[in-house]
Amino acid sequence: MKILFVCLGNICRSPMAEAILKDMVKKEQLNIEVYSAGTSGYHNGEKAHVGTLNELKKHEISTEGLISSQLKKEDGQIYDYIIAMDDQNLKDIHKILNNIHPKCIVRKLLNKNVPDPWYDNNFEQTYKLCYEGCTKLLKEIRTKIN
Ligand code: 4NP
Repeated sequence: MKILFVCLGNICRSPMAEAILKDMVKKEQLNIEVYSAGTSGYHNGEKAHVGTLNELKKHEISTEGLISSQLKKEDGQIYDYIIAMDDQNLKDIHKILNNIHPKCIVRKLLNKNVPDPWYDNNFEQTYKLCYEGCTKLLKEIRTKIN
């Protein structure tokens, strides 16, 4: 099982979700690979935003390997889930992916949008929403892998 979280810059929200889900997967020893990407390449090769890093450290979650990269057109053939943070990400994902595998589920993390902390620095809110979304996503995935 391979999961990809997607936001705009891949430095704030999707790396937060990546680190949180990786932590959950590790604790449960599940065979799930977790990645993240941005619909833009604005921050390609950069580490996650210091606000995301600090919030993860506060919750004792590893920040290893959180480097920004851009969503690629082939990614629709690679992942089982591609998870967007907001409605705009979802639209952009469909523009970028040329082909989506019939088994790949493309959807938002939650029914509501995860607001972008790039503008208001509310990384605590980002953490809470990502945690809520990852908990629900993992519950859904468990029914498939067991
Ligand atoms: P993210 O936040 O999509 O959650 O990583 C943003 C990061 C950078 C920019 C916008 C949003 N930016 O415009 O550079």
